[in-house]
Amino acid sequence: MRVLVVGSGAREHALVTSLLADPAINKVVAAPGNAGMAQQIETQPLDVSDPAAVATLGRGFDLVVIGPEVPLVAGAVDACREAGILAFGPTAAAAQLEGSKDFAKQIMVSAGIPTAESETVSDAEALTRALDRFGAPYVVKDDGLAGGKGVVVTDDREAALKHGRACLAAGSRVLLEEYLDGPEASVFCICDGTTVVPLLPAQDFKRVGDGDTGPNTGGMGAYCPLPWADPDLAQWTVEHVAQPALDEMARRGTAYQGVLYVGLALTSKGPRVVEFNVRFGDPETQAVLALLETPLGGLLSAAAAGDLADVPPLSWRDGAAVTVVLAAAGYPQSPRTGDVIRGADAPGVLHAGTAMRDGELVSSGGRVLNVVATGQTLADAREQAYATVRRIELADGHYRTDIALEASR
Ligand code: AMP
Ligand code: GLY
Repeated sequence: MRVLVVGSGAREHALVTSLLADPAINKVVAAPGNAGMAQQIETQPLDVSDPAAVATLGRGFDLVVIGPEVPLVAGAVDACREAGILAFGPTAAAAQLEGSKDFAKQIMVSAGIPTAESETVSDAEALTRALDRFGAPYVVKDDGLAGGKGVVVTDDREAALKHGRACLAAGSRVLLEEYLDGPEASVFCICDGTTVVPLLPAQDFKRVGDGDTGPNTGGMGAYCPLPWADPDLAQWTVEHVAQPALDEMARRGTAYQGVLYVGLALTSKGPRVVEFNVRFGDPETQAVLALLETPLGGLLSAAAAGDLADVPPLSWRDGAAVTVVLAAAGYPQSPRTGDVIRGADAPGVLHAGTAMRDGELVSSGGRVLNVVATGQTLADAREQAYATVRRIELADGHYRTDIALEASR
């Protein structure tokens, strides 16, 4: 089987790594990929936001795996299907589960899925009224895709208002939501339109600093499994969230195929959905896939082909996996790029924002590298991951030192 992976981050580098380990796969190409992937496999330039370009490149592959949300929402899977190419991921219509938070809420409400109460507004007056109705802490969300910058959670009414007004000014609707308390978990559900297969729940770390301080980021690290969570959490998520969502999407004629990322808050009243995404989470995927023993290519192609019901139960390695993100100076506010990186060839290093310049590896984005390690316990995996991170040289690079720390105690 020949597979094309679309995307350029550490999540896609993890997908490539797992696909290369699948004995049924003899070729993996990434587009556009990054400097790390280019050391392992062929990479091709690609404008991922252009569905026709994805489908053109996809010819000649047995499976196209789309990593990020932008091509999915733009219709890359639709274009591949029209060209007769098997593609893993939802159609543009189904990708609205991430493309519009209001749409996702409508599906959750229709399907009876537990989530935060919310209101969608489209003018400043309604925004103010809704803010005061929900009260602090305020949860204010851009309805549309915002590259991780769409959500503000704050006690500061002025800041909440400012974010809401900025979204409205940019032409977006705004969702106000009830605040959900409790630890978060990410459960990736592989879907084929009717059947759901959950992966191991994972947790990511969104704030830039140790102890969950500082601004939100795209994710500073992750680990799996979750020793503190109910062992039935994945099954609960299938029964109460993913299956009802799939059934509702099918009923509406927009069957959902791909990975449904269920972001949960484990509140004192039980789990509640915080968000749906229509792609693998980054950086949780890097930890989850490190433990998946079942060949990934077979799983993803079964999902794309509607054959998940025939897939035997997944098998998982014992132990735990941790991923630590090494970020550039100034990340997330204003990441500095172009710094030389040394020591990135160690085992378990995945690339995110890297490029080659004059024969040297340099940083080219805010999240530069991910280090993934496994171990018998979370403590072992942490030790291994941090030992590698400490050996990597990147001027003023920074990372959190507390990824999976509490869970490993
Ligand atoms: P989203 O893009 O919807 O995933 O939101 C990004 C992050 O904001 C989530 O991972 C949560 O940490 C936080 N968040 C979103 N919705 C809520 C909510 N209703 N209550 C508390 N925190 C939230
Ligand atoms: N880890 C958060 C996300 O992928 O959206």
